[in-house]
Amino acid sequence: MPSFPEYRPRRLRRTEPLRRLIQETHLSASQLVLPLFVRSGSKVRKPVGSMPGVSQLSVDEMLRDVDEASEEGVGGVILFGLPDSKDATGSSAWDDKGPVPNAVRALKKQFPQIVVITDVCMCEYTDHGHCGILRDGEVDNDATLELLARAALAHAAAGADIVAPSDMMDGRVGAIRRALDSQKLTSTAILAYAAKYASAFYGPFREAAESTPQSGDRRGYQMDAANSDEAMREVWLDIEEGADAVMVKPAGPYLDIVARVKQETGYPVAAYQVSGEYAMLLAAAERGWIDRERAMLESLMGIRRAGADFILTYFATETARLLS
Ligand code: PBG
Repeated sequence: MPSFPEYRPRRLRRTEPLRRLIQETHLSASQLVLPLFVRSGSKVRKPVGSMPGVSQLSVDEMLRDVDEASEEGVGGVILFGLPDSKDATGSSAWDDKGPVPNAVRALKKQFPQIVVITDVCMCEYTDHGHCGILRDGEVDNDATLELLARAALAHAAAGADIVAPSDMMDGRVGAIRRALDSQKLTSTAILAYAAKYASAFYGPFREAAESTPQSGDRRGYQMDAANSDEAMREVWLDIEEGADAVMVKPAGPYLDIVARVKQETGYPVAAYQVSGEYAMLLAAAERGWIDRERAMLESLMGIRRAGADFILTYFATETARLLS
């Protein structure tokens, strides 16, 4: 490779058209997925304190937000449910009349062009806030699988394009695939939260989803931040069990994992820019310490550059608007 003064990298950085010509990574609205928190009722829009701009929404209000997102070309939405009642087994998770199935049906009717993903987990539905059912204070992996499969079935039967298990139980992708296929829901795809780390960056989400564990933490099932080879084992397991796409979460602090998963599997990879990444950026921007729009676009471009095909982000609509 020639070096200075023969080669001057600055030559192709001089003007915007030159920079665009050699741009390697592209960010587009169709690659963004907007997370939404849905609850029952009507005309409900309850702001989440730690996530400015994000609210818990009744289905009618949710449709207004999706109308806006869809106008801007946002590719998809992912739904989290807030049930009216919780119990030890999270039995409202598979209620066909629950907020998520209701939201899916309304979305499929009004916005057929937007991809509808549902988050499948027990933590929003259990009174103890853990992602599965408890036995002797520990989450019982195998007993939880059947419940997750029932929840996924309810979402798929309502018309979800993709179900996304985020619980981190072993074997859940296979259990969900078998349940879907047994009901002839062979076209419903599975996006596995395959490498999901036990993270401090989920803090604001737990306020939004009212899913903070009442005792203990999630380190017994979510991954340790120190591990990368283990993430690959998780990812391959989910792929072998039938995952159509895999997710890395959080995104920003785990870009090396995003890159490795993309390079080593060649599978569609999603990355979740989580609530804490969002809150952190907004808090600094509110204080005038960083430029909101530039930091937002840069953080998302970084996630794409690392290898993510699509990104779950609370900035989806705002970013799509800026890009258009
Ligand atoms: C549910 C779930 C969580 C998130 C997505 N699905 C929280 C958790 O595991 O505690 C976090 C998303 C975010 O922080 O934006 N298991």
